[in-house]
Amino acid sequence: MISSILTFALSVSSLPLTAHAAAAVSTLKDAALPRYFGAALGQGHLQNASDPKFAQLAAQQFSAATPENEMKWEIVEPENGKFNFTPAEVIVQFTKRNNMKLRCHNLVWDSQLAPYVTTLPTSQVKQAMLSHIEGVVSHFAGDCYAWDVVNEPFNDDGTFKNDTFFNAMGEEYITLALQQARKFDPHAKLYINDFNIESANAKSDAMLTLAQGLVSKGLLDGIGFESHFILNELPPDIAGNMERFTSLGLDLAVTELDIRYDLPTTDADTTNQAQQFEEVINACQSVKRCVGVTTWGITDLYSWVPSTFAGQGGALLWDDDYNKKADWFSTINALAN
Ligand code: G3I
Repeated sequence: MISSILTFALSVSSLPLTAHAAAAVSTLKDAALPRYFGAALGQGHLQNASDPKFAQLAAQQFSAATPENEMKWEIVEPENGKFNFTPAEVIVQFTKRNNMKLRCHNLVWDSQLAPYVTTLPTSQVKQAMLSHIEGVVSHFAGDCYAWDVVNEPFNDDGTFKNDTFFNAMGEEYITLALQQARKFDPHAKLYINDFNIESANAKSDAMLTLAQGLVSKGLLDGIGFESHFILNELPPDIAGNMERFTSLGLDLAVTELDIRYDLPTTDADTTNQAQQFEEVINACQSVKRCVGVTTWGITDLYSWVPSTFAGQGGALLWDDDYNKKADWFSTINALAN
């Protein structure tokens, strides 16, 4: 423990913390202004009375929240026409009490889809999708700053995923979903969100082409760069790639930032991760329409990473014991500058 505190103190003291950042700003949300700084929140963690620190930090440090799972189809409409808004409402009410923006996530995705949808005859999928969007978006209308209307539609080679929705409607499902979301919440910013589109490649090229067409129809407001990064493998030219999208007249948000690595943590991991969070923040800050950054969680303790990538972790800004990590300090420093 003592050695880890020492390592932490040494690594932090070696970072270029300015007096301004250190003295004047103590929260990520204040440092990020006029942008927002958000986190994905889980309802179970927010309501866990034996871990009050989670909700305390969420309120103190963040000006935006994304429900990590609670608005996904399998939770919000587990059976055809039977909606369950209770878990999501916990997060909605939390954001209202704490004056936070709410990024609503998500409406149409091939993962965490209610099983009934995948067994419907193809001819009924369109109606199921439109009804789902109507039910969910009209319920939360006015609460959502933004909706991830379509999540992860592409394969890495830039082709559309052959999922339930594409199989039923072709590419048209994206237009139909956006139109329906617009109809039931005209004020929410409508996004498409994906990973591996943070640099110029076949997937982001395909997203760009899709976005161009949707902007011309007035249906799309923003693109989400998920930004689930691997330490020392950050893609090149994130800012330049953001600008490819913002120059279409779109907002750009970093929606799910984390930087994972192989455990156990070395000093080099700590130092490099701090620098690489700073790099992502600097990219956003350098792009006028990069509206904000959201990290995919608060503490490493609850991160999705270890259960998905065995042996990896350490991806967030607070450690398992809620100590601020070197990447917290580099992030607030980059935000404040
Ligand atoms: O709720 C059940 C619980 O009842 C059950 O006992 C338990 C047993 O495994 O599973 C629980 O469900 C888990 C769910 O998270 C809620 O905790 C699922 O197994 C688990 O697969 C699911 O993982 C989520 C993952 O999306 C699924 O795709 C992660 O928490 C969530 O962080 C992650 O988020 C996604 C974004 O939505 C989209 N972009 C990628 C990102 C990371 O995968």
